[in-house]
Amino acid sequence: MDEARAGQAAYNVVEMTRASAGRVVKVGVPPSSPVEWAGRDLLALRGLGAGEIRHLLTRAGKYAPVANRTETDTDELAGRAIALLMFEPSTRTRVSFEMAATRLGARVVDLSSGASSVTKGESLADTGRTIEAMGVSAMVVRTRAVGGAAAVAQAVACPVVNGGDGRHEHPTQGLVDALTIAQSFDRMDGFDLSGLRVAIVGDVVNSRVARSAIAGLGILGAQVVCVGPPSLVPEAVVSLGCRVERDFDGVLPEMDAVMMLRVQFERHGDKGSPMGSVRQYRSGYALTTDRAEKMKPNAIVMHPGPMNRGIEIDAAVANGPRSVILRQVANGVAVRMAALALLCQG
Ligand code: CP
Repeated sequence: MDEARAGQAAYNVVEMTRASAGRVVKVGVPPSSPVEWAGRDLLALRGLGAGEIRHLLTRAGKYAPVANRTETDTDELAGRAIALLMFEPSTRTRVSFEMAATRLGARVVDLSSGASSVTKGESLADTGRTIEAMGVSAMVVRTRAVGGAAAVAQAVACPVVNGGDGRHEHPTQGLVDALTIAQSFDRMDGFDLSGLRVAIVGDVVNSRVARSAIAGLGILGAQVVCVGPPSLVPEAVVSLGCRVERDFDGVLPEMDAVMMLRVQFERHGDKGSPMGSVRQYRSGYALTTDRAEKMKPNAIVMHPGPMNRGIEIDAAVANGPRSVILRQVANGVAVRMAALALLCQG
């Protein structure tokens, strides 16, 4: 299979599985209300309205100045329990949800260690029902499979947040990226990102972060361009609402934000990486120190993490003055506080 066909095939698998996962709306919750989040699930940014996203970001913007302070301790979710069901490795998402729940006064039930009965063959739906029966107020679910969080959401009545389902979506990361861009370009009042150009570079086909960012940033008005070789950025991704470009050096000087993606070797399969050698990849698509010098004066460098330093991004760029990578991490707590507070209580 040639490079372009491999990329297209990977894209098709995600689209088919995503469609069959369905959109879950809890009984009794008005899906048409533009800013009503209480009792709902947050499974994807694609399909949401600008008002719904802005409502989450406005709340996150209120938490942002205090979310990362050790003394922050509210009682907004006092007496509640939030369950973390992270069945794929995670540092940022798991810890930030835990910090967010704790800072809202909730207890955290963490089943992320691999010691749950899912390892004995219990289904995700049964695990969700079992945890809910003990009285949790919301669940965060990360799975290797597309549609894992949706499967749990269909089985339980409490709100479910998708903490990342395979190659599909990672909605709170998309909100983190939107908040970080809004802060960097003084768009916090209304979160209107129109006129801003954002490049998402690298392993788009395997990236739930990219799918949520394309959806969320596009809904808020940004122009998104995905950049990479056909094996990692098939033409079909234009259907997600972005442009596709192959020439990173050509588009780089026009961009306000450049989001580098981790090359997800673990999702490339047994037949070896479809992207060619690391040396070839770096020559076309890494954000090296030389390339970073071609960026606009105020342009920012983003990465959702974890990073492959020396592959998709040079360490000096990741640590450099344009980098907002640690601000993205810090914003994770504010965004997840907003999601939990709004879903649990409105
Ligand atoms: N960005 C992100 O999802 O990071 P983790 O895998 O560490 O949670």
